[in-house]
Amino acid sequence: MRVSVFGLGYVGCVSAACLASMGHEVIGVDVNQVKVDLVNDGKAPVVEEGIGELVAEVVRSGALRATGDVREAIVGRDVSLICVGTPSEPNGSLCTTYLERVTEEIGAALAERGGRHTVVFRSTMLPGTCLNLLVPILEKYVGGTAGVDVGVAVNPEFLREGTSVRDFFDPPKTVIGELDPASGDVVEELYDGLPGEVFRVPVPTAEAIKYADNAFHGLKIGFANELGAVCRALGVDSHQVIDVFLADRKLNISPAYLRPGFA
Ligand SMILES: NC(=O)c1ccc[n+]([C@@H]2O[C@H](COP(=O)([O-])OP(=O)(O)OC[C@H]3O[C@@H](n4cnc5c(N)ncnc54)[C@H](O)[C@@H]3O)[C@@H](O)[C@H]2O)c1
Repeated sequence: MRVSVFGLGYVGCVSAACLASMGHEVIGVDVNQVKVDLVNDGKAPVVEEGIGELVAEVVRSGALRATGDVREAIVGRDVSLICVGTPSEPNGSLCTTYLERVTEEIGAALAERGGRHTVVFRSTMLPGTCLNLLVPILEKYVGGTAGVDVGVAVNPEFLREGTSVRDFFDPPKTVIGELDPASGDVVEELYDGLPGEVFRVPVPTAEAIKYADNAFHGLKIGFANELGAVCRALGVDSHQVIDVFLADRKLNISPAYLRPGFA
């Protein structure tokens, strides 16, 4: 497929290089010219195991290049992956400014171009952001209806910094929030051949799954740290405690206590 990737940070750079190595023709887009130049020189703008070699290889083969020009990135492309940042505001709320800006830019470029294109949001965003905030922007700029004239999907990313290339090729799951079945088909085709179960769900469900995952991972880290502190205070070997805790796959590392049930 002919793919554009918006945002060449951790998620975008890894997605662009890995998709290019799977045989897709990829163009990366970033507002930061330094990142664009680095990619075109065959260098990764992020530090990750294996990413330097991968970017060098796919740029050399012509499967990946980068640009700062949105129109150039949209012409003749089937699908755009949006991987721009969604940092926290000082009050803890989600900053959607970059998502809104890139949606406007893509919508305007699509209005000039015509033909169906699928916009896939990979950035982490609160449930409702895609349908209530981004889809109306896209429809306004495209001058059409999402799900008919332009495809829309939410495809959260589950990679970890440090092992992101490995995680891309061996994902725990693939989650596709689809506005319409044709949009979901495009995303599923993109990852064809990767292991892991594929879940096709409504758009807000996909957004919520990412938050459930992030919250649970934070909960686990907090729990492990607290347990370690308590054990240390009691003179108990916390590593031994956690090893035995983890060995219990019936009640501990399992779905037990995570669904409603008998008191
Ligand atoms: N880093 C992770 O481990 C990770 C994992 C899963 C999900 N996520 C989510 O993925 C998203 C991206 O995260 P990241 O860590 O890659 O962010 P990042 O800050 O490393 O990269 C974001 C990039 O987007 C670019 N950008 C901003 N506006 C743009 C525009 N209009 N057009 C093109 N490029 C633009 C920025 O210049 C930057 O290079 C966030 O929503 C994040 O929460 C991150």
